[in-house]
Parts: sequence; C-alpha cells; structure tokens
Amino acid sequence: MGKEERIAIYPGTFDPLTNGHASIVRRGLQLFDKVILAVASDTPKTTLFSLDERVSMAKEAFKNEPEICIEPFRGLLVDYARERGACALLRGLRAVSDFEYEFQSALMNRRLNADLETVFLMSDYRWLYISSTVIRTVAELGGEVEGLVPEPVVRRLREKYPKFAEKGINA
Ligand code: COA
Repeated sequence: MGKEERIAIYPGTFDPLTNGHASIVRRGLQLFDKVILAVASDTPKTTLFSLDERVSMAKEAFKNEPEICIEPFRGLLVDYARERGACALLRGLRAVSDFEYEFQSALMNRRLNADLETVFLMSDYRWLYISSTVIRTVAELGGEVEGLVPEPVVRRLREKYPKFAEKGINA
C-alpha cells in the first residue's frame, strides 16, 4: 500500500500575503507533502483586497511550486480541513503576543476535531515585525514594501495606492 499523502492547511486572511507567510508555507513543506494555503472568505476584518484578489495574488506567488495549493474556504476551519483530508493546521508564531490567541484557537480547534494537530513554526527573524496591516499602512502612505511581500503583491499594492505607485515610477 502506498504511503498516505500528508497534507497541512495554512489558514489566514492574507490581506495581503507577505514574505512572512510565504516563509512559513515553504518551511511547512519540509514536514508535509502538500500545504494548502487556505484564504478565509468569512472574516470579521474589513479587507483591502477582495477574496478573488487575495487568492489570485497567492496563486501567482507560488505558481512554480506545485506542492503549495491555494484555495478559498468558508465556514469552520476544522470542517474544511476534514474535507481536504488534512492531518494538521500549520501556524506561524512571531512573538509572545501571538501565543495567547494561537493557544486559544489551537485548543478550540482540537476540541472540535481531536484528530487534527496544530503545528507551529517560529517565524524567521527577518519577518518578525511584519503583518498584513503594517504592509498596507506603509504602502498607503507611500513607503517602500518591496522585499517584504512577493512581487505580485507589490504590483497589486501599486494599483491600489497612488502614493506607493509613484514610488515605483521614481525608483
Ligand atoms: N508573517 C507575517 N505576518 C503574519 C504571520 C507571519 N508568519 N502570521 C500571521 N501574520 C499576520 C497576518 O497577516 C495578520 O495580519 P493582520 O491582522 O494585519 O491582517 C495577523 O498576523 C493575524 O494573522 P492570523 O492569526 O493568521 O489571522 P488571520 O485573520 O489572517 O486568519 C483565521 C484567521 C482565518 C485563520 C481564523 O479566523 C479562522 O480559522 N477562521 C475560520 C473560522 C473558524 O474555524 N474559527 C474558529 C477558529 S478557533
């Protein structure tokens, strides 16, 4: 009998995807055969990018990496993970401040599905200070975010924010 494929789900809003997220997904592939980057459609956050935009930016960013699959999801994460045959949720930890929320979510998800493990990777030090909000704020005010997000995200941010677009023209 063939070895069963080990699938992990890396969930998030990804508004937008950052190099911090990309690093966690790629490192996750050292532990799993496939990682599904699952883009949340039900989110209490007011997003800059639509669900389609968030999905398509991520697809572009990982277009040459077939073990990374991008999908939108709605509803409970544990139900989606079960549907996809995943054995784990993958999460990144940047600082102690992430811990409380992650601990709470991991325990709740475990209560909902005890067969699904949550696996945490410590964020690389290069991405400790970035979040999607920091990226959006800096780009909106015309600051440079190149090198902190994948190239397709830089392009979409220039389309959204005139001040950031000017930076690209003058560079
Ligand atoms: N590098 C850079 N930034 C990171 C990061 C990393 N490694 N890990 C997280 N972040 C950032 C995210 O970009 C996000 O930034 P923002 O707040 O500025 O948007 C912030 O840290 C929080 O990220 P995260 O905790 O992943 O929240 P999220 O909103 O992206 O995703 C879901 C939350 C979708 C995973 C969660 O709401 C969910 O599971 N929803 C489904 C419904 C459900 O099952 N709920 C019960 C769960 S117990």
